[in-house]
Amino acid sequence: MAKVIQLGFLGCGNIGGGVYHLLTEMHDEILKREHIDIRIKSALVKSIAEARSDVPRDIMTEHAEDVLRDPDIDIICEFMGGEQPAASFMQKALENGKTVITANKMALALNWHKLQAAAVEHHAGLYYEASVGGVIPVIRSLTVSLNADEIDQVMGIVNGTTNYILTQMSQQGRPYADVLAEAQRLGLAEPNPTADVEGFDAAYKLSILSSIAFHTRVTYEKIHREGITCVSPDDIAFGREMGYTLKLLAIGKRNGDSIEVRVHPTFLPSNHPLARVDGSLNAIYIHGRYCQDIMLQGRGAGDKPTSSAICGDILYAARHLDTPIVPSFANTAETDPAINFTNNWTCRYFVRLDAADTPGVLGSVAGAFSGKSISIASLLQRPSSNGRATIILITHEASEQSVQEAISSLNTDLVKVESMIRVEN
Ligand SMILES: NC(=O)c1ccc[n+]([C@@H]2O[C@H](COP(=O)([O-])OP(=O)(O)OC[C@H]3O[C@@H](n4cnc5c(N)ncnc54)[C@H](OP(=O)(O)O)[C@@H]3O)[C@@H](O)[C@H]2O)c1
Repeated sequence: MAKVIQLGFLGCGNIGGGVYHLLTEMHDEILKREHIDIRIKSALVKSIAEARSDVPRDIMTEHAEDVLRDPDIDIICEFMGGEQPAASFMQKALENGKTVITANKMALALNWHKLQAAAVEHHAGLYYEASVGGVIPVIRSLTVSLNADEIDQVMGIVNGTTNYILTQMSQQGRPYADVLAEAQRLGLAEPNPTADVEGFDAAYKLSILSSIAFHTRVTYEKIHREGITCVSPDDIAFGREMGYTLKLLAIGKRNGDSIEVRVHPTFLPSNHPLARVDGSLNAIYIHGRYCQDIMLQGRGAGDKPTSSAICGDILYAARHLDTPIVPSFANTAETDPAINFTNNWTCRYFVRLDAADTPGVLGSVAGAFSGKSISIASLLQRPSSNGRATIILITHEASEQSVQEAISSLNTDLVKVESMIRVEN
């Protein structure tokens, strides 16, 4: 006998519409395969008259309570976006004992401990596979498949908009503003692109990923964040000449009780698996003590891929309604006090300088770096205009603090720092 599962949607735009269509098209197949009869009972929108998806109007409502308080609804799926009221609606749903599924990284990253506490207290499930990397099954990989391992690194391209922009800048040598405007025309960037291009979206996702990977709460505030708005085509071209590809990476590393979490433009060797992930694709590289290297890649957005991940959560939740799953780490309001979050990480550095083309300049630059015990791995010098030269150097491994100090100690009469970009292996 089939198990009937009733769903309520909070939000029914791109993703709500996509989930509705997948579940409608796959209904009979799921029933046959899984013996689960999934029915969508209601969907909250702001305005039924102006609703954008082609979901039948008769299941739509403008009143959240119709979804949150309906005793027939087993699972509530949140597809509204933004922090509020999405987070408080999810909390209410969990307090009413409803299992919640969300794709909302912002609401989750900022309110996770409250949502998880409500889920545990009210014996409800909380699932969020699509909140990071769209269809890429990274949450379940970390919380189930790799749960016994000791993960020391997660590094990902988790924002398709910025990856599209950097790919176009790299392949066509075009400036940032040009490519952003094109991405907006194509619907690949929002009219207000701040969340993507300033790295906020990637930082929310890194908060979720690193909390799960490192089994401790990594709050959004701990993440060092830089976006791509200052990236120049010159940096990309010089980096490429030296064998590197530029990506906006979300990086989490754990070494004993020390954790570093950062989102910033990063050069990778052009043969690194992440360097070859182009356009709007997402990918996440994981390293662990036993599993060693893993790379997961796929569509990080779009209604169809995202709906696939969400509907996987829906079926999983439907099978586990009596024994809801809660991720196995201490996701409390406060991080374990033993953990130290460091901003003084170690990596290599790409530095581009505009220099006077006179004898002694190279020596003075080299001196500033060697004075901080930083050795230079490669160096490139090119004449530019007006008797100036461009100097690019890539350091060996050095601490963030020592590089910042070396840069501050440069003789500003001779050189001007155009950019400093971290390099990962
Ligand atoms: N789009 C993607 O590819 C993608 C991928 C992964 C994750 N996500 C996440 O999925 C979520 C939904 O994204 P989306 O692209 O589907 O957004 P969307 O197209 O803007 O849809 C949002 C829906 O929520 C409704 N809504 C928003 N605020 C509301 C409020 N205060 N009261 C009632 N209804 C409200 C909207 O109603 P109206 O239609 O009446 O405005 C609309 O139906 C977001 O958290 C996003 O980060 C999206």
